[in-house]
Amino acid sequence: MTPSQPLHQQLLWTAKALAEVARGHATHTALAGVPAALRPGVQALLFHALRHWGWTQAAVSQLARQKPKPLVSATLCVALALLAFPAEGVAYDAHTVVNQAVKACQGEVKLKHAQGMINACLRQALRDLPALKASLHSDLQATWNAPLWWVQKLQKQYPKQWQEILRMQGAAAPMVLRVNARHMAANAYLELLQAAGIEGEVVSSCGVVLQQSVPVERLPGFDQGWVSVQDGSAQWAAQLLWDGVSTGSSDLPRILDACAAPGGKTAHLLETGDARVWALDIDPVRCERIGQTLARLGLAAECAVADAAQPGPWMAHGPWDGILLDAPCSASGIVRRHPDIAWLRRESDIATLQQTQMALLDALWPQLKSGGRLVYATCSVFVEEGEQQAQAFALRHADALRQPAPGHWLPGRLDLPDSDPMRHNVRMAHDGFFYAVFDKR
Ligand SMILES: C[S@@+](CC[C@H](N)C(=O)[O-])C[C@H]1O[C@@H](n2cnc3c(N)ncnc32)[C@H](O)[C@@H]1O
Repeated sequence: MTPSQPLHQQLLWTAKALAEVARGHATHTALAGVPAALRPGVQALLFHALRHWGWTQAAVSQLARQKPKPLVSATLCVALALLAFPAEGVAYDAHTVVNQAVKACQGEVKLKHAQGMINACLRQALRDLPALKASLHSDLQATWNAPLWWVQKLQKQYPKQWQEILRMQGAAAPMVLRVNARHMAANAYLELLQAAGIEGEVVSSCGVVLQQSVPVERLPGFDQGWVSVQDGSAQWAAQLLWDGVSTGSSDLPRILDACAAPGGKTAHLLETGDARVWALDIDPVRCERIGQTLARLGLAAECAVADAAQPGPWMAHGPWDGILLDAPCSASGIVRRHPDIAWLRRESDIATLQQTQMALLDALWPQLKSGGRLVYATCSVFVEEGEQQAQAFALRHADALRQPAPGHWLPGRLDLPDSDPMRHNVRMAHDGFFYAVFDKR
């Protein structure tokens, strides 16, 4: 958080943004109207507020006599998140938070009438914070800061790991880089980072996790395409595909990236193998970003706006040697990067997404050559979008031979022994993800 801007202004704009999320808008939309000078601080405060929103909403319903209006509730929630869970690196004195929250009300029509009530609720919380915390101890939504259905789904699907998954979802994610293998290896790039005063650790042949996030402009060679920002889990896709696609013949293999925008995995495929790649996306605005991603990296693919679940001109370029289906999903694995996700999803979304993923899988499978490979990926930890989907697909397609793949890569999954000094960084470098790999007989 940037303490350089007055806290009362940051509180007010964060509360407005939080009220927008409460109305169903994603954080990037909610932050769009925030003045540029305030935006970095407000974004950090909004993420902090979202990571504690289950607790603060429950606290507000205890502290307020009547259900407050949305902006009043949001103001209380932001201030309570700072009071009860001081943000890392920025210590605001508790009384400063209360005073600044009251000051935030003074310049805002929708809050003026509520300044007395906000003052009273925050002071009451301050007087007996331990008792307030104790009273919410057994409230699952307050403890894990996610909707009840979300917590219960994880409890049911992961009886042993659900707490660790939720703990990881509530923590801020580190910045992870993918070094462009066409330029250099991760070890060599780490030396460039260190020379630029940026500390990090190599976590794979092309992955580096940074100790602290930095603006991309500070990354050596970013504009020249030496490096991209991509979580460690997302970096599995290219390897899994290339492991099953024959690259020996004189003709370049033909690869379809069926849901490609903004092009992170398309780029990784092209950085790590020689191929003709077709990149589709149904969303024209996002599709443009594939071209921008590839241009920065000096790579090229055939990009098209298309629904990969429907027949279209794109099919004329097949059949393909390899298909990557990085399917639309609940994004339940990347909550630590987008803390609004758990709050924006509805339980019923999961079944709808499952249907979409199934339709995409079934439409794409006939487009794969015999002997070719399909990699199915989602950034979700829910089994409906992962293991259940993969098993049902294998049952529907007798010519699909399932190959070993990470399956559900859970946040916090630990594959290295305790003694390994890389353990912490490797663990932190991975969002929740699912991969299934099918070769066609
Ligand atoms: C998980 S994102 C893809 C991320 C991308 N593979 C990357 O690594 O940068 C899923 C994408 O699927 C696209 N999508 C959703 N339904 C689709 C469909 N029926 N056909 C093609 N693209 C679709 C969305 O617009 C979204 O960009």
